Amino acid sequence: MSPEPEKNTHTPRNVVVGVAGGIAAYKACHLVREFTEAGDNVRVVPTPAALNFVGAATFEALSGRPVDTGVFSRVDEVQHVRVGKEADLIVIAPATADTIARIAAGRADDLLTATVLVATCPVVLAPAMHTEMWENPATQDNVATLRGRGITVLEPARGRLTGTDSGAGRMLEAAQIAEMALTVLEAGSFSRSLEGKKVVISAGGTQENIDPVRFIGNRSSGRQGYALADIAAHRGAEVTIVAGDTDALDTPPGADIVTVRSTREMKEAVDAASTDADIVIMAAAVSDYRPENEASSKLKKGQSDGALATLHLVENPDILKGLVDKRKAGETDAVIVGFAAETDNPLEYGQAKLERKGADMLMVNSVAGGAVFGEARNSGWLIGRDGAIEEITDGPKHVVAARIWDAIEKLTQSRP
Ligand SMILES: Cc1cc2nc3c(=O)[nH]c(=O)nc-3n(C[C@H](O)[C@H](O)[C@H](O)COP(=O)(O)O)c2cc1C
Repeated sequence: MSPEPEKNTHTPRNVVVGVAGGIAAYKACHLVREFTEAGDNVRVVPTPAALNFVGAATFEALSGRPVDTGVFSRVDEVQHVRVGKEADLIVIAPATADTIARIAAGRADDLLTATVLVATCPVVLAPAMHTEMWENPATQDNVATLRGRGITVLEPARGRLTGTDSGAGRMLEAAQIAEMALTVLEAGSFSRSLEGKKVVISAGGTQENIDPVRFIGNRSSGRQGYALADIAAHRGAEVTIVAGDTDALDTPPGADIVTVRSTREMKEAVDAASTDADIVIMAAAVSDYRPENEASSKLKKGQSDGALATLHLVENPDILKGLVDKRKAGETDAVIVGFAAETDNPLEYGQAKLERKGADMLMVNSVAGGAVFGEARNSGWLIGRDGAIEEITDGPKHVVAARIWDAIEKLTQSRP
């Protein structure tokens, strides 16, 4: 589940939703809704083949605008030039093997491809096809060509394809595509800048059992950690998420998920995954303390030993500090990034935490007044070991994640 689309908080954008002829064309209807509900002006441009799957009437009714497929419709308006020039964003979903090939070859044999050739705005493609078609070297070469030209080609998901087949090539869900497209609009197009990198990200909150029915937990939703994982996966990284308690979030394409509950379980999973990792981000909110004893039966109110009224807590292991110690001992070579959530003096406490833990970078958020946890947006400061502070201005968590990755990639490149 992705956060609700933002409603009318921005100037309406001209969004072209291109639809090619694949079985996933029906999902484009939901994508159109994502943008119209966010207040954007949507123009749907299907290929002729797409209309075999979904009728023009559906797209016209959903977008409130006419639908044409060829450059010779409404010639007085020279539509491909007007629509291409006016577009703030073009999203093609599904992008078929054929449409990907035609765009890569610079063809302009229908309204969609001609519009893409005219446009100078960001272009985002959400591929959908059978695994064999996706993995075919012809398609992969075309995708690499498009990525090399600054077009963002999202990674397809693994899962159920047409009929009973299953594998890589399934189109992402409409909300995921909209999220990524808006991230490209705000934070710039993606390249495969993390190709070959192994990334470990912890997300969500840990829970410490008091008895079989109660626990100590926190308000973390895991959204920022998952957004970091999503951006990393689309930039080509091999991603492992170590997830504590989170909201029901979409799995980033290709990511492995290890689920844990307690801080000690999270430490074990993070340590195991980090041995050969290039980058570890501790975005989870971990419980610093746990009950000294976990009761095997439910504790009762007014129990004579007062076990429920007075909890004795002991300190949990420090996962972030432990990673830094492991690196000192030569057990990992990873770049280590921490997170801090503070209600007061976020910059001062953040700097002190970075110093104490010895991580390479720390993202500090102000969570005063219920901000950040479970919300769709975030902001804060990225603090580097060299004392540099970069303000991360308020934005959707995916945009914040893209900015954090830009900073981490810069740090990785400057590393000896
Ligand atoms: C039932 C059916 C489902 C199809 N699904 C896909 C698909 O998911 N992805 C794909 O690349 N092509 C798919 N095709 C093939 C395309 O429709 C075909 O290559 C067509 O030329 C695509 O044209 P376009 O890219 O201009 O829309 C499918 C064809 C049929 C008959």
